[in-house]
This record gives sequence, C-alpha cells and structure tokens, in this order.
Amino acid sequence: MSTVRVLIVEDDVVDRIACRRAFAQAPGFSCELLEAESGQEGLDIALREKPDCILLDYHLPDLTGLEFLARLAADQGEPQPTIPVMMLTGADSATVAAEAMRRGARDYMVKDSDGRYLDFLAGAIDRLLREQRLIDEKQQAERVLRQSQKELRELAAYQEKLKEHERTRIAQEIHDELGGLLTGIKAYISVAIERSGEQSDPLLNDAAKLAQDAIETVRRVITDLRPSVLDQLGIWPALEWYAEQVAQRSGLRCSCNITPAAMALELDAERSTMLFRVAQEALTNVVRHAEASEARLLVDRDGDNVVLRVEDDGKGIESAGLSDRESWGLFGMHERTRRLAGELNISGKAGQGTTLQLRLPLEDKNG
Ligand SMILES: Nc1ncnc2c1ncn2[C@@H]1O[C@H](COP(=O)(O)OP(=O)(O)O)[C@@H](O)[C@H]1O
Ligand SMILES: [Mg+2]
Repeated sequence: MSTVRVLIVEDDVVDRIACRRAFAQAPGFSCELLEAESGQEGLDIALREKPDCILLDYHLPDLTGLEFLARLAADQGEPQPTIPVMMLTGADSATVAAEAMRRGARDYMVKDSDGRYLDFLAGAIDRLLREQRLIDEKQQAERVLRQSQKELRELAAYQEKLKEHERTRIAQEIHDELGGLLTGIKAYISVAIERSGEQSDPLLNDAAKLAQDAIETVRRVITDLRPSVLDQLGIWPALEWYAEQVAQRSGLRCSCNITPAAMALELDAERSTMLFRVAQEALTNVVRHAEASEARLLVDRDGDNVVLRVEDDGKGIESAGLSDRESWGLFGMHERTRRLAGELNISGKAGQGTTLQLRLPLEDKNG
C-alpha cells in the first residue's frame, strides 16, 4: 500500500484533528498529512511539497476557496491547478461547490455538522487519485503522440527535400550520360545516311527516327523529374511553361493567368518548389480524373499571401476522394501546405468541376 500525501488547508484545528483521526482509522488507507492553517501557508506548502491532493476548506482566514484555486493555478503557471483539489464546503453551499468545480476543483464534500463526511473522506481521496492517474496517463499519451506527429512531419519534410535533390541529380545524370549517348548515336546514323548517298537504306532512316524519339523521350523524362525552367527562370515562367506542356500533351485547354502583383513576388526556393509541385499534382489530377475540357491556373497576391487556384470544368471531385487514405497526391499537397503554414481547400460539385485553392504565406509563420 503506497502512502498518499494529503495537504489539508483548514483553519479549524478541531476539523484538522478529526480528519487526521479519520485517515488513521480508514482501513487500507495510508496517508502522510500535511497541514496548513491559512490559504497562504497552504499555497506555500503545495508548491514546495507537491502533495498528491489537497483538501481545501472553503472559508479560510485570508482567502476564499475560489481565490485559493486561482492563486494555485497561477503559481503553477497553468490555467487550472494540476494538483487535484477536493473542496470542503458548508452544508448550504451547493452553488459555491459548483463554482469551485468550474474553476478546477476536482471534487467536493459537504461538511455535515455531525462529521459523517469524515467516514467517506478516505474513499473519496482514493477515487480522486485514481482519476488523477488516468488524467496523467492520458496527458502522457497525448504528449507522446504529439511528439511522434512532429517527428513524422519533420521526417516527411526531410524526405521531400531529399527527393527534390535526388530528382535534380538523376535528371542531370540522364541528361549528361544518356542524352549524350543518344545524340552521338543520332549523329553516327546521320553520317551513315549521308555516306550512303541517294540509295540510303530505309532501315537507317527508321533508326534515325527512333533515335530522335529517344532523345525527345529523354528530354521529357528529365523535365518531369525537375523542370530546369524552375531553377533557371523561376516559378512564374515555370508555371506558364507547365500549363503549356499539359495542354500540348493532354489536349486539354489549359490557361495560366498570373497577376502582375503575383508576378512581382520573388519566392524562395522552398516556396517555389512547393507551389510548382502543388500545381503539378493538381493539373495531373485534372488530366487523370476530371474528364474536363478546360483547366485554369490562376495566381494572385492577397496581402502577405500568394494564392494559387486550379479550376477545372470536369465531373467534380467527390468528398470520398478527399478523405480517402489512399489519396497520396492530395495528402502530399496538404502536408506541403501545412509545413509552410498555408491553407489548402479542395472542393467539387458533381458535373461542375473542381476547384483547388492554396493560400501560402510569404513570410515564415512556423518560426
Ligand atoms: N480534379 C479532379 N476531378 C475529379 N476527381 C479528382 C480530381 N482530383 C482528384 N480527384 C479524385 O481524388 C482522388 C485522389 O487524388 P490523388 O490523391 O491525387 O490520388 P491519385 O491521383 O493517385 O488517384 C482521385 O483518385 C480522384 O478520384
Ligand atoms: Mg493524383
């Protein structure tokens, strides 16, 4: 049986002695009783000794029970006391008890004149402490959960950075190695065609065409990995270029409208990449899922935010798609947005298309 440390804040010495006796007699209850005669003394002992719980008389010479609760919370630097407090009130003070509970007392007992409450005190304290243990465990679990969420988010951010970096590196490598080889092959074939003069082998012409196709494929793969316009010309030309690419490749009408106010903004590398990847995912979704005939990309500035909208006139995203755990594309957009303290809204109306709106703060608000 573990010993419970109870602080009683009570100016009436008779009541204190009665309490001590009641605890000593309670079966299965072992308690170290700390005693304070005034509110101030109670606060001092509470902070110094950190008892497991406090029995608090409502009427104290210097403070009321409610004032004691407020001071205790303030001294602990918390909105409500973290040490569980049981209020002891007079028989006529139900409203006081209710108010005390509202201000953070965990329980109350009415002191009846013939002292019957004393028989129930030990049991009530046991209950209070059991409850407190549950609260502590819950808070601990929440702390662990918050911490692991934070770590996951940091990991995701790190992976994202790694991925961008790796993409750039792979694009570079393909460009230098494979691109160089194919250009070489094509040059050889051209020379062979030239040498063979008038009656050149049709196979050679086919080979030349294949080489050209391969060169174009390589170029496309490279720009998909990480468009160099993004690094060389910046986010706005990159978005315009990408909208054009989408139009060419998919046959969708795809416009891009960036207001002069937005155009004048210079975004850092992280925000540029983020904006580009969100626009890319959104337009890819339009092409893959929307059955739309038109997509519009709009960028504007609104105060300290840059606002990106991607609208389509397709079938409209279903709310199920928005919460689907397998929606990694949408998930990634939300995660990127959260990391930069932005807001992302995606909504669809059946048959009337889908709108995605991203608000991205220009300043770092995550600290
Ligand atoms: N523009 C859109 N129009 C209609 N449906 C969409 C649109 N964008 C997304 N969706 C729906 O939301 C789902 C989740 O999208 P996403 O997370 O990007 O996953 P994925 O593209 O890999 O299927 C899609 O499978 C699709 O059903
Ligand atoms: Mg997708």
